[in-house]
Amino acid sequence: MILGLQWGDEGKGKIVDVLTRDYDIIARFQGGPNAGHTLIFDGTKHVLHTIPSGIFHDKKINVVGNGVVIDPVIFKNEIEKLKAVGVDLKNKLFISKKAHLILPTHRLIDKASELSKGTKKIGSTLKGIGPTYMDKTGRNGLRVGDLSEDDWMIKYDNLKNKHLNLIRSFNVDIDFDIEELSNNFFESIEYIKQVKFIDSEHFFNESLKNGKKIIAEGAQGSLLDIDFGTYPYVTSSTTTAAGASTGLGIAPNKIDDVIGIFKAYTTRVGSGPFPTELFDDIGNRISKVGNEFGATTGRPRRCGWLDLVALRHSIIINGVTKLAIMKGDVLSGLKKIKICTKYRYKGELIDYLPYSLESKNLEPIYEEMSGWDDDITAIKNMEDLPKTFLNYISFIQDWVGVQIKIISVGPDRKQTIIV
Ligand code: IMP
Repeated sequence: MILGLQWGDEGKGKIVDVLTRDYDIIARFQGGPNAGHTLIFDGTKHVLHTIPSGIFHDKKINVVGNGVVIDPVIFKNEIEKLKAVGVDLKNKLFISKKAHLILPTHRLIDKASELSKGTKKIGSTLKGIGPTYMDKTGRNGLRVGDLSEDDWMIKYDNLKNKHLNLIRSFNVDIDFDIEELSNNFFESIEYIKQVKFIDSEHFFNESLKNGKKIIAEGAQGSLLDIDFGTYPYVTSSTTTAAGASTGLGIAPNKIDDVIGIFKAYTTRVGSGPFPTELFDDIGNRISKVGNEFGATTGRPRRCGWLDLVALRHSIIINGVTKLAIMKGDVLSGLKKIKICTKYRYKGELIDYLPYSLESKNLEPIYEEMSGWDDDITAIKNMEDLPKTFLNYISFIQDWVGVQIKIISVGPDRKQTIIV
């Protein structure tokens, strides 16, 4: 299992792509096209939103699991982009029949909901994720398997009409042409029907029985988890380890390794609390050097120091067995690096995540470490990394109690040190 331990954008896509050669099947288990998984190799950048990050490798099967929500319009676009760069998807890409569909009206509800919240808005990617999961848990959703049923059009119309009433009730001004949106949606549905729809839980369990190895690819990050994230400023799915079991139909006792990915610093896109956020030149520098802009929305990401209290929370909730540290190269050149090890919460020092991270009650407490000046982007072996960077790594490992087994020193597939 490969999971992000912060607020998303840790670099899961890159690590999935790097590890894919040792696996047979790569499966996305939650989220939807709110994700933007960036892969760079042979000088080209590819961004995936719904399709698993193993898609560029030959002879690997990629599955969009039942826990994922799919927007056929975005999916079509993704497939077309892949075909344009010569990726052959035949017998390589399957979709779970139980995955839920994002309707155009789900996106409109997302927009209306955000507009109605004003300054309290979540900062959603507006891809219709929350409304689609609402329909899923409310038992009103439409699934990929419904597309082959005779009453599919009736089901679509019923849900669409219900949504249109709901949109009106928000009492906000949004422009849309429902005919055009529906036509576009149906055109895309016909297109994605070229991809094989499968009973994915059966496929996964048979594959495991036959000795195949699966990567469960997470989207977003643990601090955006619907239960254990910074609610309500979260996404609407279980981004933590348990989500892989419900989102794929693979039992917890079949999971061997949980690889937790984190950046050497922290970023967040959208609203919500962020205790170690930087509002100074260092924050701007990290943002610029790290190219911290959302892969899906292009929005600038908020940047801050590494928060070990939050990181350990994620490690515990997920049962992380191995860690991967990303983007240490971005911090090169900083004389001093801060790392948060405690919070002062309502006047007391604590080292766990409290109920709310709102800044009026909470102040991060830092330890200061020496930075590293060297360019580390071409380093291939751990021993060659600057001593101060190795100290940083040791400090993190000791504090959280889990070993760092992967060190990424740049965006390219090749810029990865496996320890
Ligand atoms: P939604 O899931 O699009 O509704 O967005 C809810 C919150 O999660 C917002 O703060 C988004 O910015 C954030 N979010 C959703 N997907 C991602 C992601 O893939 N990376 C980082 N943040 C995300």
